Amino acid sequence: MGEVFGLFGHPVGHSMSPLIHNDAFQQLGLTHSYHAFDIAPKNLEKAVEAIRTLNIKGCNVTIPHKVEIMKYLDFIEEEAKQIGAVNTIVNDQGRLIGSNTDGRGYLESLLPSLDRSLSEQDVLIIGAGGAARAIAAVLVKEQVQSITFANRTVEKAEALKVAFDANHRNLAVSSLQEAEQDVPKFSIIINTTSVGMSPKVNERPISLDKVRSNAIVSDLVYNPLETSFLKEARLKGTKIVDGLGMFVNQAALSFQKWTGVEPDRRRMRELVLKQLGGNNVNR
Ligand code: ATR
Repeated sequence: MGEVFGLFGHPVGHSMSPLIHNDAFQQLGLTHSYHAFDIAPKNLEKAVEAIRTLNIKGCNVTIPHKVEIMKYLDFIEEEAKQIGAVNTIVNDQGRLIGSNTDGRGYLESLLPSLDRSLSEQDVLIIGAGGAARAIAAVLVKEQVQSITFANRTVEKAEALKVAFDANHRNLAVSSLQEAEQDVPKFSIIINTTSVGMSPKVNERPISLDKVRSNAIVSDLVYNPLETSFLKEARLKGTKIVDGLGMFVNQAALSFQKWTGVEPDRRRMRELVLKQLGGNNVNR
């Protein structure tokens, strides 16, 4: 009999995780199933207990539970500790192991666009929330040349820098206005904020007027797939990394942890694109 997998979040109604995981199970001839569970914050501990009781083999965790859930698990992998959040749980015979595939998932979406090594990259991360932290943890581990954290609330960017200072000697903080002026310094620019997400599709976190044409510009927003920010970058001739890569790769990495099998990532991407409303957003 197939095993049960799930997503813990609140809300979860619009999640595309069940679609891509169930399709991947089917493609690989597995009889497992993946369900979205809407868990109110007050029920989180009981929900984690239910993983053991019902023998759910693995879970994804999303907003607002990624941080809170850590205290109910039996073991947290090193990278998830650095990120300070868990997005994947593996149930190893009742022992619940938390990990985080967001940062690695992002890195895997970035790597194909690099024409120099990570150690030569000067990175601007816009935003200082959970997504920024996941990406920073991985880029710090990979020892990129430098990372600048820019955020509307500068204190939060400062806190992120402090969290990683011990593991990297070239971290900086700036306001969004300063980052805009400094844009020519950066070889990789990543928007981790929700600015530009539908319906406010005309908004951009900063102007890219001064961007180098050989830079890589990336946006975690994938609805729309080409945000106003990425459109400006494309018109400036930079390489572009859209936000769907991170979503698909984090899912694929979780899938691997649960099944030991690599799903068809291209098919996952196409399914999400179709669900988002089609090819008009694809480049
Ligand atoms: P996530 O977990 O997806 O990273 P989050 O933790 O809520 O989400 O973080 C949201 C990030 O987007 C923050 O950096 C936030 O800036 P503040 O720290 O100043 O709140 C940023 N953000 C959201 N809306 C924004 C806006 N309209 N302009 C600029 N930054 C914005």
